[in-house]
Amino acid sequence: MITVLGSTNLDLIGTVSRLPGPGETVPGGQFSTAAGGKGANQALAARRAGAQVRLFCAAGTDSFAADALRLLRADGVDLGGLKTFPGPTGIAMILVDGQGENVIAILPGANAAMGEAEAEAALSGMVGGDVLLLQQEIPQAATARGLALARAQGVTSILNTAPFLASTPELAKTASIVIANETEFALLADGSQDALEARMAAWAKAHGQTVIVTLGPDGARAATPTHSISVPAYPVDPVDTVGAGDTFCGYFAAGLDAGLDLEPAMRRAAVAASLACLTPGAQPAIPHAGQVDAAL
Ligand code: RIB
Repeated sequence: MITVLGSTNLDLIGTVSRLPGPGETVPGGQFSTAAGGKGANQALAARRAGAQVRLFCAAGTDSFAADALRLLRADGVDLGGLKTFPGPTGIAMILVDGQGENVIAILPGANAAMGEAEAEAALSGMVGGDVLLLQQEIPQAATARGLALARAQGVTSILNTAPFLASTPELAKTASIVIANETEFALLADGSQDALEARMAAWAKAHGQTVIVTLGPDGARAATPTHSISVPAYPVDPVDTVGAGDTFCGYFAAGLDAGLDLEPAMRRAAVAASLACLTPGAQPAIPHAGQVDAAL
């Protein structure tokens, strides 16, 4: 059983031929909406990978809430930990360019109301060997409480450092496993000009944890206090990379939950993340286990 403590959003998506710079206006193409939010995306990815998943999250009282939760419900994510707060549901405003690259701004809405009480509810009853998956789109007080309780209860905690916050470096040290992209890891282990592999090994040894860095088309790399691993991506021509990192995190958590070792769990997650780049939108693009098996 995987427990996810995190955000849910409705994504408002516009396509553009190129991403605008500050102060610039560029002509756009299509507008669409899709369910998103890093917590919800990762929960759905773990579920589509085949895990039993509980999501502790918040939605608002606006008309966006139902759309934000639709795929979670359809795929059987346990939403017993859903709280409804008066006001808007979280929103992400996303622009995607012709190469599939994106920029995202998040307006937290109900996600901002998550706190220590929600973390305590999520950790209630969790025991050693269970998996807790967290990101950075709810208030840090909730994430910090979840990580502290996980450590005290012997739960394996996986912290995805997206989106990176000022307090992320301190918080990351308290997780069992950290998943960052290259930009986030540079912020996490700042100052050093060493090669990525050396910086990751130094971080893993210093904090006694496993750190994973996702590398887009180059797959992913992990360092533990004793060894390093690297796995390839699956070659694709991306149309939209939104949610690819979340797909990696959810599939990776599901792999660990199913008893896979670090390398096969990462290999499966990297292939799932590549496949998530083939379809527009975050949640609609998350592949099912059968598609990942076929690609593997
Ligand atoms: O990681 C992708 C997600 O980031 C989107 O679904 C959006 O909601 C933002 O949270």
